[in-house]
Amino acid sequence: MNIQGKTALVTGASRGIGREIALELARRGVKRLLLLARNHQRLAEVAIEIEAMGVEVVTLALDLTQSVEVNISLAQAWRDYGPIHLLVNCAGVAHQAPFLQSQLPQVQEEINVNLIGMYTVTRLIARRMVTQREGRIVNVSSLMGKVAAPTMATYSATKFAILGFTQALRGELAAYNIRVMALLPSLTDTDMVREFQWFRWVVPMTPKKVAQALVAKLHKESPEILVGWQSYLAVWCNRIAPMLLERILLMAAP
Ligand SMILES: NC(=O)c1ccc[n+]([C@@H]2O[C@H](COP(=O)([O-])OP(=O)(O)OC[C@H]3O[C@@H](n4cnc5c(N)ncnc54)[C@H](OP(=O)(O)O)[C@@H]3O)[C@@H](O)[C@H]2O)c1
Repeated sequence: MNIQGKTALVTGASRGIGREIALELARRGVKRLLLLARNHQRLAEVAIEIEAMGVEVVTLALDLTQSVEVNISLAQAWRDYGPIHLLVNCAGVAHQAPFLQSQLPQVQEEINVNLIGMYTVTRLIARRMVTQREGRIVNVSSLMGKVAAPTMATYSATKFAILGFTQALRGELAAYNIRVMALLPSLTDTDMVREFQWFRWVVPMTPKKVAQALVAKLHKESPEILVGWQSYLAVWCNRIAPMLLERILLMAAP
């Protein structure tokens, strides 16, 4: 997809990977950006940075777990600022805990934001993309959507689910000229993982590198974008020697 002159909606754009994706899209010539997250102040700060590049910005301070409000605001946003050509579903939450100490409210939050939130936004936008017979949707999964690891069971479950969701939509929406792909970052240095106990030997990436990898590959047809050599190594090891990878993950787990 050539993003020059196009309109994009990025969820989770107030910080971390989503913020960097928005900035990278602006650098690459997108015309208008709709930025969604809960924190209005942070969104406004990102908007100022992007507007300085000559890109039009609309901020949408919304909680993705509030589906009625999200539906109403996004329908208005499409009417006022659409059509939206690119949707990047980046908002997400993660809780790290040994499974036996995991808490239901945290699991529910992961499911509500990572899955139901993504579903709500995607359904509304995809229905409108269908009428214009054009669109691209990027769902942010994770390397943990391919390789599950101790202490991240429920987060991994949501990220595996996102890959299934993406694959099914890819098939269903292709007939309407809507391309659907997944982005799979590995450990990235953002607020999300600052309180985590990190896995041994894993070198974190910068959110900027993740954003650049996505935008550079947007025009390709790849169903999944892995970022960084560690991800390729882990995925290949999982295919060729899954038992070995499980043993390595156990040794690396906090
Ligand atoms: N960091 C990593 O190591 C890593 C690795 C692989 C994949 N990922 C994935 O990358 C995506 C971005 O993660 P990140 O590392 O950039 O995390 P982050 O720095 O914690 O940012 C999360 C973003 O999601 C938004 N968000 C959270 N809950 C929301 C809600 N209920 N409604 C609306 N927005 C909400 C946050 O904004 P507000 O707080 O303002 O609402 C923020 O903009 C996630 O899907 C994550 O699973 C991250």
